Amino acid sequence: MITERLATRCDEVLACDSAARAVDLARERLARTPNVTVALGAIPEQWPDGRFDLIVLSEVGYYCDDIDALTSRVTASLTTTGVLLACHWRHSAPEHPRTATEVHAALGHLLKPLVHHLEDDFLLDVWSSNGESVARADGILG
Ligand SMILES: C[S@@+](CC[C@H](N)C(=O)[O-])C[C@H]1O[C@@H](n2cnc3c(N)ncnc32)[C@H](O)[C@@H]1O
Repeated sequence: MITERLATRCDEVLACDSAARAVDLARERLARTPNVTVALGAIPEQWPDGRFDLIVLSEVGYYCDDIDALTSRVTASLTTTGVLLACHWRHSAPEHPRTATEVHAALGHLLKPLVHHLEDDFLLDVWSSNGESVARADGILG
């Protein structure tokens, strides 16, 4: 589970899903992981308050009716050095109102690209607010 893995690397993780069952299962699984909060809510409508240095949209963007509102929410809540990672399945599915390509084109248009990975099954992009490389942001390059 992505949330569980992120919790080993992040000080605090806020996970969100619109399905009560998914939220219940995640809360059970992560009950002993104090740095994780699991929220029930649909994005972009119930986007959480706060600023985030990492936002991960894993296979959720194509369910959102208002992709422009999602893009606005993401962009406005990233910190000045914040990073957005999005990953979406590329095969068509009847419940997806739009494709991975359409979702990523919308999400990234106000941000700076850092990583673009395209393969038959999925699309993965990483963008940042300021376009700084990971090495530079971590101070490795001085
Ligand atoms: C394909 S699953 C991906 C689950 C998880 N994000 C992952 O990558 O393992 C899609 C999930 O998106 C959730 N979902 C669908 N529309 C949503 C929305 N508008 N807001 C939040 N979650 C949504 C569904 O309930 C479902 O759990």
